[in-house]
Amino acid sequence: MQKLSGTLRAQGKTIGLVPTMGALHDGHLSLVRRARAETDAVIVSVFVNPTQFGPNEDFTRYPRDIDADTALAAGAGADIVFAPPVEEMYPKNYSTYVSEEAVARPLEGASRPTHFRGVTTVVAKLFNITRPDVAVFGQKDAQQVAVVAKMTEDLNFPVRIVVAPTLREADGLAMSSRNRYLSGAQRAEALALGRALAFAKGMVEKGERRSDRLVAEMTHLLAQYRRVRVIYVALVDRRTMEPMREVEPGRSMLAAAAWVDEVRLIDNVTL
Ligand code: PAF
Repeated sequence: MQKLSGTLRAQGKTIGLVPTMGALHDGHLSLVRRARAETDAVIVSVFVNPTQFGPNEDFTRYPRDIDADTALAAGAGADIVFAPPVEEMYPKNYSTYVSEEAVARPLEGASRPTHFRGVTTVVAKLFNITRPDVAVFGQKDAQQVAVVAKMTEDLNFPVRIVVAPTLREADGLAMSSRNRYLSGAQRAEALALGRALAFAKGMVEKGERRSDRLVAEMTHLLAQYRRVRVIYVALVDRRTMEPMREVEPGRSMLAAAAWVDEVRLIDNVTL
């Protein structure tokens, strides 16, 4: 892969990378289209990265279908699908990790303490292997975007990070590979997250600025769903993930995570 991206560069082509863990859905495909629009050659990586899963998480049952993913990625304009085996990314003697230590701490970092270390490690490796000019990530994983952007800046990777908007199903559910885990009844309750965020955004549009009011309303709304257990609801700075007491338009984001029975979902809105 490194050789191939070297050849593309020697031909004067710009490279776009869309890192994924596969199980591609329309949200991923919108990222591929965005990379297609911004660069000459689009690489989609498909790698279920073991280092970003906690010991009791869904690594082994994470959906894998490389043939379907390759067809979908090609259909959306990818030139290359890079799907390395685990032993190639993490050989037996592997011992180097990249960890961002501020943006990665709160929210997801608080309940999944080793998650972002795995993400930054694999993304740094993917950057070195594919040498992209542009890497496209989805706003759905807003903290991941912020952590990767900080790592890119701190480690001087010559990569421009592009963030593409969250795609939603017709009923408002943010697209996610993990939505496949939801039963019909769970899916109906999973809508709570997007609804609560949309409600809070409506409050902001009507003039509400106070974090405690927004968080209280969202928590109240989510409590009405029997299967939903809130992990966090927070108003944060969308770059640093630091908590904010008041909305600052253009800078703030509401982020939420919840269990719907045993399925862990996240969502957010920028304000
Ligand atoms: O968002 C994902 O699918 C993953 O966290 C990523 C960025 C591909 C790294 O494994």
